[in-house]
Amino acid sequence: MVSFIIDGKKVEAEAGANVLQVARKYGIVIPTLCCHESVAPSGACRLCVVEVKKGKRTRIVTSCLYPVDEGIVVETKTDRVLNVRRLVMQLLMARCPESEVLKDMAKEMGIEPQPAFHPDTDKGKCVLCRLCVKACEDVVGASAIGLSGRGKNKKVGAPFMEDSKTCIGCGACAYICPTEHIIMESTDSKRKIWGRTFKMQPCDKCGRYFAPVDQLKFISDKTGTPMTELAVCMSCK
Ligand code: SF4
Ligand code: FES
Repeated sequence: MVSFIIDGKKVEAEAGANVLQVARKYGIVIPTLCCHESVAPSGACRLCVVEVKKGKRTRIVTSCLYPVDEGIVVETKTDRVLNVRRLVMQLLMARCPESEVLKDMAKEMGIEPQPAFHPDTDKGKCVLCRLCVKACEDVVGASAIGLSGRGKNKKVGAPFMEDSKTCIGCGACAYICPTEHIIMESTDSKRKIWGRTFKMQPCDKCGRYFAPVDQLKFISDKTGTPMTELAVCMSCK
């Protein structure tokens, strides 16, 4: 265990935890976009910045990546921190002006869009947080999507922006996306995502459509479980 100060309060945490985890445990709210418990933090959005004093040095760090340490002093709401978050949020809003999630977060943070940053109108709602890519790679193991392009033209999608051949239609990317950029359309028997239409599997017992057939085949190939065993929904298992 290590002890340190956060917003003037002495706290204890397990060595190896990051500042964001500990702040949340103690009810301190730090805004985040690219952090999700199912994937390792990447520090992509920069919204979670805080100020950390270690020895004589004070610096701005991303709290989702910064490991707690004995004796550090963390401030989550100084003017310097709030100014950096304001700038980050204004840049994100300029990239994705139609994102309602960003608008709501900005409102809560008391931030207005900055006219000096010209809004992009062709980026959809993607803030390039990479959560979808990591969920697809690290959690699902399909690696169907990635980031391509450079700088302003960077975007998320299937390789060469073609219809994804390795996508299994699981929808993990759409569920984890914090800004609702990824569009997944579902009817009972079909699901559309990343330019493809997937057939859904009906449960052998209750008949309810519950998962894309390709996702079940993928699980069957990986685990050796026969498709007949996988064709039953969670409620009927
Ligand atoms: S599509 Fe969503 S999850 Fe993926 S990088 Fe963009 S904002 Fe993040
Ligand atoms: S939540 Fe820490 S950088 Fe995005």
